[in-house]
Amino acid sequence: MLTDRIEARWISAFAHVFELCKMHSNERIVILSESQSNELNVHLAELALGQLGLSYYNIKVPTPADVPGPVIRSTGACTALDNQPDAVAALTQSDVVIDLTIEGLMHAAQTAAILKSGARIMNISSEHPDVLCRLVPTDDLKDKALDAVSRCRATQKMHVSTSGGTDLTVNMNKAITVGVWGWTDKPGTLAHWPGGIVVSFPQAKSVNGILIYQPGDMNLTFKRYFDSTVKLVIKNDYVTDIIGTGTDACLMRDYFAAFKDKHAYATSHVGWGFNAAARYEALTMYNKEAINGTELRAVAGNFLYSTGANEFANRFTRGHFDLPLMSANIALDDTLVVDNGKLV
Ligand SMILES: [Fe+2]
Repeated sequence: MLTDRIEARWISAFAHVFELCKMHSNERIVILSESQSNELNVHLAELALGQLGLSYYNIKVPTPADVPGPVIRSTGACTALDNQPDAVAALTQSDVVIDLTIEGLMHAAQTAAILKSGARIMNISSEHPDVLCRLVPTDDLKDKALDAVSRCRATQKMHVSTSGGTDLTVNMNKAITVGVWGWTDKPGTLAHWPGGIVVSFPQAKSVNGILIYQPGDMNLTFKRYFDSTVKLVIKNDYVTDIIGTGTDACLMRDYFAAFKDKHAYATSHVGWGFNAAARYEALTMYNKEAINGTELRAVAGNFLYSTGANEFANRFTRGHFDLPLMSANIALDDTLVVDNGKLV
């Protein structure tokens, strides 16, 4: 990562992921990007498709201007397709969308229609290619994801605790759970690379308790490690109190409030990471603009708690925090799946 000269191993990594996606020559493959996308990754996708002998075309749309108000980063909710009906129509005609938008299509308004058309969306997180290369998906991630999904779907209650005082209960009844292992070969589904995450979107009024963030935990919206303690009080899904005297609490209180939207305080998703290749220290090693932080969401054994939109509880908002808690215990109906930050 000293210079951005294209490396053969980067092309191979992209080609390997496309092979996992079972892209073949009689499919319509579209590379979707925007004007501020990481051009290096767009080039790598093109070169990898070329290497595999697969034809494709590009759809490139302008990156929308930031709207006044809080700065939005790493939400997974691309807005570049808003007011782009022709581009969306073309995507719904495709078999594969290689998604290189900055935020990704995970929670974009147009994603449901694209998936419903039968296209599969392979999101490549806006990371430096070295990060992607280190985190090329492996078969075990799929096994772990399927196992985690079936456990979450079968559970009634998730309980999260730490020695620092975290005590959170999530009613998992009818929660919507998805597992991401890093590639998709199935029509109408979306995956992102890097993978290694299970996330559940609980129904309304399902999340209650206290989360204690301590130095070394992560705030991936701000792309920083906590260096002070923050206590979040959560009642019926909503953060009702943000207690702390350090920089982290100050920043979070201000950012939450900036949306002037009560749903910004609500729970979006809960889950954990299980990618053994994802590195906890990664956030210290790259410039912020070089990464999107998906690696940190996938660090094995973190409890990933997120605030913001939860379409399954009928809540929509632009605010979104992804807050991995390290060294937590996660129990599903009293069976530990993560013990003091280690996968069981
Ligand atoms: Fe999130």
